[in-house]
Amino acid sequence: MSEKSELIRQNEYIERLKQIVTDLSNKKGHAPTFAVITFGCQMNARDSEKLIGILEKAGFMNNGENEKSDFVLYNTCTVRDNANQKVYGRLGVLNGHKKKNPDMKIALCGCMMQEPSVIEKIRKSYPFVDLVFGTHNIFKFAELLVRMYESKGLIVDIWKDTDQIVEDLPVKRKYPFKSGINIMFGCNNFCSYCIVPYVRGRERSREPKDIIREIETLVADGVVEVMLLGQNVNSYGKNLENPISFAELLKEVEKIEGLRRIRFMTSHPKDLSDDLIEVMKHSKKICRHLHLPLQSGSSRILAQMNRRYTKEQYIALAKKIREEIPDIALTTDIIIGFPGETAEDVDETIDVIRQVQYDNAFTFIYSKRTGTPAAAMENQVDEAFAHEQFDRVLKVVQDTARERVSLLEGRIMEVLVEELNPHDDDLVTGRLSNNILVHFPGDSTLIGQILKVRLKECRGFYYYGERV
Ligand code: 5AD
Ligand code: SF4
Repeated sequence: MSEKSELIRQNEYIERLKQIVTDLSNKKGHAPTFAVITFGCQMNARDSEKLIGILEKAGFMNNGENEKSDFVLYNTCTVRDNANQKVYGRLGVLNGHKKKNPDMKIALCGCMMQEPSVIEKIRKSYPFVDLVFGTHNIFKFAELLVRMYESKGLIVDIWKDTDQIVEDLPVKRKYPFKSGINIMFGCNNFCSYCIVPYVRGRERSREPKDIIREIETLVADGVVEVMLLGQNVNSYGKNLENPISFAELLKEVEKIEGLRRIRFMTSHPKDLSDDLIEVMKHSKKICRHLHLPLQSGSSRILAQMNRRYTKEQYIALAKKIREEIPDIALTTDIIIGFPGETAEDVDETIDVIRQVQYDNAFTFIYSKRTGTPAAAMENQVDEAFAHEQFDRVLKVVQDTARERVSLLEGRIMEVLVEELNPHDDDLVTGRLSNNILVHFPGDSTLIGQILKVRLKECRGFYYYGERV
């Protein structure tokens, strides 16, 4: 089926869903409420905005993350096992709510659902779940909801892969002034520890004209900052009918009038081109931040991880970026406890952290993901040893980040105000171009504005500031 006619089909389902919502409203005396709870990365956050868009269009009432709602959807993550465990834990609690509200419906979607073992477990141990779907068919959400309300028993609809990208379905943005934009889906890299290529499928890029049109519409609707999303944005566009590079796409996005800031996530070091550095260097809108996952500083472990760069190549790349764009913030992801990793390997990782001087680094204990090549490796690392090494790395990350971030103390820089500070109503929280958070006195009228602040006091990864 063509993607256009699929859009028409789904819009018809949204209309049918409206009738279902009206019937439920008449029965209950109020519109049915919903909660969408998102685990994991920015991709999932964006998917949730699409799911919420459809629910609101159909007339459901947004109840935030209140799990005592008439419809609860968990958008799951499976990149590490603790994300899976959280979902199972919360499902137990949901069962209690459902017993008190027999009309309640429970749905699960996202990366975890792409694993056959998870589906088996849900069928066996969580029979109160009503609907399960995966990452490839979220555009069918309206249709699946109609089926769920019109039938009894668990509905499972999981696709192994897809080449379909359905444009123009409704979306409800979390923030009025900023938005994520998918530029590509899936991943072809098969890093040996990573489950993403198995649950998100093969790499597919959106057409540049669709991306530009979506951003133009967003800007007309008040968006000033966009985050271009892909598992590996540096390989964007390679498989399109008319191939285009990520650097070229950025140049096109830069031209959009009214757009103030451009971010992107995530860059694989092996594919980061000189062209991209050049475009970033001369851009007025691309933010001074690059997230460049290192994973390990040991060339031996990197080879085992199938990362396709060495310690030396990574350091050379980071140095080149720092030389060309001196005010850039570099952040990274690091895995500790990969099979066969020794204290000497971790020393290499620490050496890279010291040399590159990250502004922030996300450190993770290796999690064995069934079906990945690393899960079958025989030399799995002892958990206590991994935790020890983790603590060692974290300490260096914190010290070097504080040193690096504090270099900005006293400077006046622009922040985009995002929200009221969750812990102190007299403060607002905004983000610098380099992604560092700043808290400063202000009120909700400032949200969405780009303002100048003086960075007064560095608190490790963030600042306290004041407006100037
Ligand atoms: N165990 C631990 N961390 C992982 N990541 C991906 N897979 C695993 C795993 N099996 C981390 C990587 C990646 C980030 C999103 O999650 O560091 O960059
Ligand atoms: Fe996973 Fe590697 Fe793809 Fe990132 S690039 S999603 S770590 S396989």
